Amino acid sequence: MVVLSPYLALALVPVVFACDSCEEGEKSAYPRFTRRMQPQAEDAVTQPRGPLTWGEINFIHTSDSHGWLEGHIKERNYGADWGDFVSFAKQMKDQAANKSVDLLLIDTGDLHDGNGLSDATDPNGKVTNPIFQNIDYDLLTPGNHELGAVDVAYNTFTDFTAVYGDRYLTSNIDICKNCQESEPDEKEWVAMGGRFRHFTTKQGLRIMAFGVILDGTNNNKDMTRIQPAREMIQEDWFKEAANRQDIDLFVLIGHNPVKSGIPKSESTFPLIMETLRGLRPEIPVQGFGGHTHRRDFRIYDPMSSAIESGKYCDTVGWISLDGIKSQPANKTANPQSQDSQADKRGISDETCSKTKDFDMQLTRRYLDWNRLTFAYHAAGSQNILDSSEGLAVTKGIEDSRNSLNLTYVYGCAPQTYCISCKPAGDPGNIYTLVETAASAKVVNPDRSANSRMIIVNRGVVRYDLVQGPFTLDDSYIVCPYHNAFNYFPDVPYSLASKVLETLNKPKSTTKRSTMTMDTISSQMLGYDECDNPSPHNGTELLKPKTLFRRVLDEDALTQGYTTCDDLGGDGDDTPHSEIPEYDLPGHFQATAGFPEDGQPDTVDLIFSDFLASRIANALNLEGPSKNYTKDDGLLYLPVDFSTNTLIPAYASTEWQDNISECPISG
Ligand SMILES: *[C@@H]1O[C@H](CO)[C@@H](O)[C@H](O)[C@H]1NC(C)=O
Ligand SMILES: *[C@@H]1O[C@H](CO)[C@@H](O)[C@H](O)[C@H]1NC(C)=O
Ligand SMILES: *[C@@H]1O[C@H](CO)[C@@H](O)[C@H](O)[C@H]1NC(C)=O
Ligand SMILES: *[C@@H]1O[C@H](CO)[C@@H](O)[C@H](O)[C@H]1NC(C)=O
Ligand SMILES: *[C@@H]1O[C@H](CO)[C@@H](O)[C@H](O)[C@H]1NC(C)=O
Ligand SMILES: *[C@@H]1O[C@H](CO)[C@@H](O)[C@H](O)[C@H]1NC(C)=O
Ligand SMILES: [Zn+2]
Ligand SMILES: [Zn+2]
Repeated sequence: MVVLSPYLALALVPVVFACDSCEEGEKSAYPRFTRRMQPQAEDAVTQPRGPLTWGEINFIHTSDSHGWLEGHIKERNYGADWGDFVSFAKQMKDQAANKSVDLLLIDTGDLHDGNGLSDATDPNGKVTNPIFQNIDYDLLTPGNHELGAVDVAYNTFTDFTAVYGDRYLTSNIDICKNCQESEPDEKEWVAMGGRFRHFTTKQGLRIMAFGVILDGTNNNKDMTRIQPAREMIQEDWFKEAANRQDIDLFVLIGHNPVKSGIPKSESTFPLIMETLRGLRPEIPVQGFGGHTHRRDFRIYDPMSSAIESGKYCDTVGWISLDGIKSQPANKTANPQSQDSQADKRGISDETCSKTKDFDMQLTRRYLDWNRLTFAYHAAGSQNILDSSEGLAVTKGIEDSRNSLNLTYVYGCAPQTYCISCKPAGDPGNIYTLVETAASAKVVNPDRSANSRMIIVNRGVVRYDLVQGPFTLDDSYIVCPYHNAFNYFPDVPYSLASKVLETLNKPKSTTKRSTMTMDTISSQMLGYDECDNPSPHNGTELLKPKTLFRRVLDEDALTQGYTTCDDLGGDGDDTPHSEIPEYDLPGHFQATAGFPEDGQPDTVDLIFSDFLASRIANALNLEGPSKNYTKDDGLLYLPVDFSTNTLIPAYASTEWQDNISECPISG
């Protein structure tokens, strides 16, 4: 949950997004004809490896956009904005109509928390929801970030059901209809959207769709309630829906990882897939998941699979399916997943092979979110890509960014600082920057004579800081959380110096109390398993660089996704070179004001506020003369100096070089 700092609340101009008015006078006001995107953004340089395969039914999937409707302004792989996506979606719908096949658009939630455009307003999403709604989704479902703050949950409920009606699916989510103002005597729980949707596509396929969020997310329990999937599948409505005779295809969408066993976010897709297979052995199931911010494709059984399509508007997922109406007569022939038209010569992949039985004639592709890609697949020409709706959306985003002051530049970041592409301690690792900034800026003038140790957790950072102008928008992107700095004064150095090591020890997962504490602090931070997306579970240091080793032309590939899923290593639409991924500790520590030589006797032990009890516990392990409690924590700096304003404060003084002509690296 992002709390608005006071100055921002004042600067806030209500932004109304109206397509009609944007159309007028567009040519003179906005003379960029061949290059849309946001004005500061760069386009990609590597084009897709080949055309998409189309089936009798096709899907475009987005997930976990987290407010990034402006696209990635400083990263050319993902430079398109939502207006470009609107144009792309329209072109693809037209192509589907030309081919007499179906194309469905699907989103699986988490619409804000992560970008200035969504988070600089109160409530979050005030500007981004209407922009998002320019896509005429066929099926969509909320994520945990729509179920956190009370006002966000309630607005999403009223807004999205009004716009999308029965296409908004919440098979296992209820919302309290009368809890918005105060705690009622008796809560009135209602389904937040439709439990299921049965419909017939343009081409006559009969679809039964469900929208199921994973169990146990950090939703606001007063306002929303999530029914565990194992209970949901026992409901009469579910059994009746699944047993209807007029079904050709199940579509299971959900803010739900496609892979089970990922720590902290157990998927319920396998259970639901198994249940549907049990009830209806003859009907295929196509799934669309989310939440873990990765590209992935999972096969559950020979007729059930699901895709997960990245994060932060960096990925469009593509699925083509054939042989639904006319069941594949010869399953052993197994013609599936022949993404035949695509040029796979660039891919030499010995480490990632498909192993599972699968009978569907299916292809999946993960498209990079840029104009080059959109134009390539939509029309083969940038001039044809743009639609008037898309251009209006682009203009609306630009106007909103300006009126929210998101383009305000604090400084010019001299290099890129990433979360995990450099090891901890490397100058290019963002926690090294956080430590440097904390040493320089987290100082109370009245106590500046004291030695200081400052501890933050890994979740303080949400996204890489890319070389180039560091803007107000970037302050939301990189460190969205507004945690104040608290401290224990005058802690003996002999105790304080042990804390970091204790905090970073691997936790025993069997201790209930520890888990509860972590869940609460995660929730406070809005920090969940999404926040540090990693395609791996963090046990290995550097992944082997074997994918895409041989490339046809000599052009260096740009770094990006190199996905290995249940269908193999050919899912990425644009080949990339691998981004190294280093393991990181859970907490980082900066020091300042230490004596020239020797150690201080005592230090001010400073930390982001919600770490108080963790740090007290760590100190108490060292046998202090008096045990610490979290209530011993005092405010170190005024609350408007927070983890969100730390890097802006640093940039405002240290990154003033080249501020008017600041090179972008992405
Ligand atoms: C659809 O077909 C018509 C007629 O052949 C053609 O003019 C149009 O460009 C096609 N549209 C797309 C999106 O392929
Ligand atoms: C399926 O296989 C059988 C025999 O193996 C063959 O006679 C038949 O034509 C095949 N059907 C299709 C649709 O390929
Ligand atoms: C934009 O934000 C910056 C940083 O807080 C502030 O200094 C500036 O005055 C703001 N500009 C406007 C127009 O609100
Ligand atoms: C500023 O720009 C100049 C010229 O491009 C470059 O040599 C220098 O390293 C830049 N300084 C910083 C701090 O980015
Ligand atoms: C992490 O991955 C390794 C190697 O794939 C595996 O052995 C281990 O069980 C995994 N750990 C968790 C917590 O998933
Ligand atoms: C501090 O707490 C620990 C366990 O919580 C306890 O064993 C110890 O006696 C306490 N020490 C003091 C000084 O109260
Ligand atoms: Zn997410
Ligand atoms: Zn999520």
